[in-house]
Amino acid sequence: MASKTILITGGAGFIGSHLVTLMVNKYPEYKIVNLDHLTYAGNLENLKSVENAPNYTFVKGDITDPKFIDELFQTYSFDGIIHLAAESHVDRSITNPMSFIETNIVGTVNLLNHAKAHWGDFEGKLFYHVSTDEVYGSLGETGFFLETTAYDPRSPYSASKASSDHLVRAYHHTYGLPIVISNCSNNYGPYQFPEKLIPLMINNIQQNKPLPIYGDGKYTRDWLWVGDHATAIDLIYHEGKNGETYNIGGNNEWKNIDLVHQLCDVMDGLLGQEQGTARKLITFVKDRPGHDRRYAIDATKIKEELGWEPQVQAAEGLKMTAEWYLNNAEWLNNITSGAYKAYYEKQYSDR
Ligand code: NAD
Ligand code: TYD
Repeated sequence: MASKTILITGGAGFIGSHLVTLMVNKYPEYKIVNLDHLTYAGNLENLKSVENAPNYTFVKGDITDPKFIDELFQTYSFDGIIHLAAESHVDRSITNPMSFIETNIVGTVNLLNHAKAHWGDFEGKLFYHVSTDEVYGSLGETGFFLETTAYDPRSPYSASKASSDHLVRAYHHTYGLPIVISNCSNNYGPYQFPEKLIPLMINNIQQNKPLPIYGDGKYTRDWLWVGDHATAIDLIYHEGKNGETYNIGGNNEWKNIDLVHQLCDVMDGLLGQEQGTARKLITFVKDRPGHDRRYAIDATKIKEELGWEPQVQAAEGLKMTAEWYLNNAEWLNNITSGAYKAYYEKQYSDR
């Protein structure tokens, strides 16, 4: 295997930290450079297992800063970029859209510009943009998102990701930059920031706090174990075709209320309390504005072309996730006792 120097952006976040760990361990001959601004969502605790690996380097910096990115490209001769750095939470995009425009759109264009400027004739180079299925909009009771589904983003988050996807494709078509894009469904697993549905519910069950279900709770998401997403990214980086898009999904649809019921039952078991105890904490709250009703991915293309399928089933994945949060109380407490506490109180008192 030839040596490569790969820039992973957002590697201290939830998915990024799983990807960095996988790449550092699987490819000792590569050099993995993790660039992360360590926003509220970035956490170097997620990377303890690889922080001293000889093929791993962490750089703190902002993808929106042109001078900094230029210097980074001068310091390292990158063969490829896997770009995950983003503002990632829909509710925050509703209260503060501008940071999503800056990081997700301007930051992506800044990276594209420097890849274009520093990569000569593009031979052997690849810009991999990690995106979301939310760019496709909202489904009714039936149907699935395909790679050919027209974009129809509805939240500031998904609109900013859609915009960045378009710009990545524009650099491919206009300048010939080698690119791949993947659009993935909702991830879950260890190290997810507790503002997202599953860790938020696990944390609240543990704290005996209300479990806030938006609207009627019948909104549907397709959940994928984060480790399965990381293996898909690794595969697409190495074997995906230049210019192509791949949808990644778990084939694992749940209505939010059913998922939370399941999680309550798992948590009752793990906490040794009577079944039904956690469910009593469920509280229906004011809906999210513009809430997308249903997401579901058709992942046939990545299965048929690259041979990828999710490995972790829902029952196993939810139990592993709940156990991880219970066993990593310090990780969770460091977040929930800090700045996040004020965010949570504001966000949920308004509902
Ligand atoms: P996350 O919020 O956990 O992590 C994002 C990381 O990006 C953090 O470490 C943060 O510090 C870093 N970052 C933010 N702004 C930055 C900037 N200006 N410069 C450098 N670093 C910056 O997000 P995640 O859930 O791990 O998602 C990672 C990527 O995958 C995102 O692009 C997201 O859109 C995409 N995605 C996420 C999901 C999901 O379910 N979480 C699903 C599909 C796609
Ligand atoms: P989330 O984890 O924020 O991911 P996304 O909005 O990107 O799909 O939310 C998943 C689903 O759970 C979504 O339909 C909104 C809902 N939800 C709640 O009902 N209550 C909550 O407290 C949160 C955070 C989300």
